[in-house]
Amino acid sequence: MLANITDTSGATNPQAIGMDLGGSAIKFGVIDASGALIESSFGQVPTPAGAQPQAVAKAMAGVLATLNEQFGSALDGAAVGVTVPGIVTNGVVHSAANIDPQWRGLNAEALLTETLGRPVHVLNDADAAGIAEVYAGAGRGADGLPAPGSTLVLTLGTGIGSAMFRDGVLFPNVEFGHLIMDGQSAELAAAARVIREENLTWEQYTERLQRYLSHVEFLCSPDLIIIGGAISVEHEKFLPGLELRAKIIPAENNNAAGVLGAAHRALLAH
Ligand code: BGC
Repeated sequence: MLANITDTSGATNPQAIGMDLGGSAIKFGVIDASGALIESSFGQVPTPAGAQPQAVAKAMAGVLATLNEQFGSALDGAAVGVTVPGIVTNGVVHSAANIDPQWRGLNAEALLTETLGRPVHVLNDADAAGIAEVYAGAGRGADGLPAPGSTLVLTLGTGIGSAMFRDGVLFPNVEFGHLIMDGQSAELAAAARVIREENLTWEQYTERLQRYLSHVEFLCSPDLIIIGGAISVEHEKFLPGLELRAKIIPAENNNAAGVLGAAHRALLAH
């Protein structure tokens, strides 16, 4: 169902909107009926300083206004999928490791549905990125369908996001970034941001990732591990150095994965 981002064939037929809340930017875009991201709709606005829920909701209403200008009445009724970097069940956010604590306990779906004036579906950012990879990226088998077996998508960025699939079915809100490693959340030791913060060489970072991924592999034995996040474009610097039973490959949708997965969720849930 979900097609990749280079397909612009349905550009006149917008179906669902995706918005991906990150630390520095809110990325957004519209998918067509085939599930492909309409390239001309893809963009980003700065995340309001502090990323408090009300300010983020306002910024997202601004994004919707921009998209309404671009698509006009064709966008009427299109549902919105929104990612949040935390645990989300039934629209309520339950953790806020790297965002404003006001998100914790908030019914984000209710706030955004009211502010945007149309149905909004909220999901975890890594789950959204995972959906994009498994249905329209590196997680597809030769037939273009989700690869059979267990697939783990990990996003390495400010934190570590994780999404677990069995035969293409998502088990939501897996939080492998918060496994304890050296007495602390693993993401504090192995997320991509530590490379810069601790001035690590690629060799040193690969060693950290090896310990982390070996532990994750011991716990859930995935057949396939997909590494996403901005760091995935530099995969040649660290993936070849890793030794795991699972096949490990870079993500394909890097920049747009969250948007694509969020829009896909909105389309299916609506
Ligand atoms: C959060 C996850 C999120 C990940 C990536 C972690 O700190 O707990 O929910 O997916 O960061 O943003």
